[in-house]
Amino acid sequence: MVEATGGLVVVDARRGPGAITTDIPTRELAGLVGEGRIVVVKGAFEPAGLRRMRSAILAWNAPSRENDTSAAGSTRQRSEDPPGTPIRHVFESFLFDVNDAADPIGPTVRPAFDRLAEFWRALTGHAFGFAPDAEGRALRPRALYYPAGGGYFDWHEHPLEPHRIGAILGVSELGVDFGTGATEFKAPNGLVSTEGAHDLGDVCLFRYDLAHRVTAVDANAPRRWDGPGRWTFIIPLQ
Ligand SMILES: [Fe+2]
Repeated sequence: MVEATGGLVVVDARRGPGAITTDIPTRELAGLVGEGRIVVVKGAFEPAGLRRMRSAILAWNAPSRENDTSAAGSTRQRSEDPPGTPIRHVFESFLFDVNDAADPIGPTVRPAFDRLAEFWRALTGHAFGFAPDAEGRALRPRALYYPAGGGYFDWHEHPLEPHRIGAILGVSELGVDFGTGATEFKAPNGLVSTEGAHDLGDVCLFRYDLAHRVTAVDANAPRRWDGPGRWTFIIPLQ
């Protein structure tokens, strides 16, 4: 375990196939997150697979329309500081239908979300999956793409329960796909940033009720939506 300045805990994932594990038992890892520590699990996913998924999402190139968890089929929604939204943001949000084998993109990205969800279930003790339960709740596989040229997501927070732990998989490479831009958290001991520490294949864990934001990605570059910038995969429980 490495404790970076500012309260960031950085741990290496064990190499090899199978579930994500580190030198810290998963129960202890969940305990650190529960105390309000921000944890980055380095190298939890193999980079080549994530790059292939990102390329497939870009090649899918579906028309932009509103994300809707109640409808079938994957959707893509581009959003640039729309007036009237409660939390200002510039990103493209992809909602993947991983349950339909005929969906044009869901089955392609599913392996990464399966692995992320398995890790989240081990951390939280929850049993939620991608198929809605009796109350209609499910993990909703999403990608958020913050484009180079100022993609960002302003401060916001979520209730602690039932989600408990947020898990953000980095799907872009530091110094290659993006230079600056990170998630920041208002942790119990002060502001914590993942700047320079959340790379392709790393999973950032945080207690779900900590206020957080995504700072502008390569703010001085021209805005572009064809890949450069910062991609993340998340599995919000909705
Ligand atoms: Fe959030």
